[in-house]
Amino acid sequence: MGVLLRVGRWNRCSGVAGVALWMLLVRSDAAPVSYTREVAPILDRSCAACHQPVKLKGGLDLTTFAALSNGGKHGPALVARAPATSKVITQVKGLKPEMPPEGKPLTVPEVATLERWIAEGAVDDTPATSARAAGPVRYDSRPVITSLAWSPDGATLAVPGNGEVFLVSVDGYERRFRLRGAAARVESVQFSPDGRILAVAGGTPSRFGELQFWKIATGELERSIRVGGDSVFGVNWSPDGTRVAVGGADRTVRVFEVSSGLELVRFDQHTDWVFGACFTLDGTRVISASRDKTMKLIDAASGQLIDEICRPNEPLLGILRVPHEDVVAGLGGEYRIRVYKALAKPDNNDPNADPNSVREYDGFEGGMTAAAYSPDGKWIATAGATAGEVRVHDAKSGGRKATLRDHEGVVYGIAFSPDGMRLATAGFEGLVRVFQWEKEHLTAVFAPAGEIVDAAR
Ligand code: HEC
Repeated sequence: MGVLLRVGRWNRCSGVAGVALWMLLVRSDAAPVSYTREVAPILDRSCAACHQPVKLKGGLDLTTFAALSNGGKHGPALVARAPATSKVITQVKGLKPEMPPEGKPLTVPEVATLERWIAEGAVDDTPATSARAAGPVRYDSRPVITSLAWSPDGATLAVPGNGEVFLVSVDGYERRFRLRGAAARVESVQFSPDGRILAVAGGTPSRFGELQFWKIATGELERSIRVGGDSVFGVNWSPDGTRVAVGGADRTVRVFEVSSGLELVRFDQHTDWVFGACFTLDGTRVISASRDKTMKLIDAASGQLIDEICRPNEPLLGILRVPHEDVVAGLGGEYRIRVYKALAKPDNNDPNADPNSVREYDGFEGGMTAAAYSPDGKWIATAGATAGEVRVHDAKSGGRKATLRDHEGVVYGIAFSPDGMRLATAGFEGLVRVFQWEKEHLTAVFAPAGEIVDAAR
């Protein structure tokens, strides 16, 4: 310890080299490198695009510990306690590293982390709860459905199961693909504006967050991004489809570039879980909603806070943007949906004023659990914790147009068909229901993890 202190004092006046040495010395005194928390995020970020189960460059999968230890076409990629002969090191080290063949090379500290992990024995601390490590999901009972999305071409519903997402063809409600990520829980699903990619946000609580991007046409994983040490929620695409925003249990709001997987913004001024984040119409700002009762307007390029757009009223469990408008709806954790202009507040000294407020809809005892706008923005469907019913309101007047009553248990996912005529709902029961909502007519019920229960017409 004495040595470290002396080095510390010395480095403060000796510039960059001193700082690096200081960090190495501190590091060598610290806990062993963790595969799950430190190594996997590096490999996911810089290598997984080319080394994953559906794109095995060099025959090598770098997305799990088991696959990494299996090695590639030319044998082991990893020799425990021998970093100098491990290919994952020799390929990434040096001035002109072989890997990655394109894009940014690993940084010196990243290489040092990999080396130290191998030198320490390459210990696998993948949690038993890592879905991907556990093999195919088996269901003893229907899984709770946490979210729903309807593809822009109308052909596909995305329905979360346990640690996976079912892509279900709307024609006949046949399961087309099971999309299996690393995360034990899927919290939200959202199709890209062009409908080609499904973004999936989730995580293994208290271990890691994960964002997955799946190709709809083939069911292939295009990219997985590990995000921090806890689950991420409420993923939304930028209107041009180049970025996504998510909230996190680690109280952050993050923006990622989809093509590179790079984290562009990390915003950490919330004081509680952030349940979602969405973009303004021009993509320059992000609005987040948190259990800390605030919705924050954030610059999507710099990550700077611009303003809080609402008066703190109640914890917020989600957020969605009104289609074609810079207006957002926050799901109240105690009561109702409140709609706000996505603007900085005009100067206002009255602490009780809520100048951006646009309207509110009927509340649900116990708080809101889901909401969706029809793609033309004319209708909003809402669900709450206690009622087991889904209500459709005229989005402008707030008047109620339909009440869909057949649910047993809480509804967590609502999605309109692209033409706005049909509404899919799902939740605690593990069943998806499809309504012709204006007639309050149920047209199909199916269990995506298993059989079609009933399909009338
Ligand atoms: C843009 C795609 C791409 C990225 C990103 C990439 N690789 Fe590769 N990798 C390849 C290709 C292609 C090969 C096969 C080269 C060959 O066989 O000549 C390969 C081969 C390898 C091999 C040798 C496997 C074997 O047994 O032959 C290792 C080890 C490796 N990569 C590690 C990494 C690591 C570590 C990263 C991240 C830092 C990474 N790669 C990122 C494309 C990529």
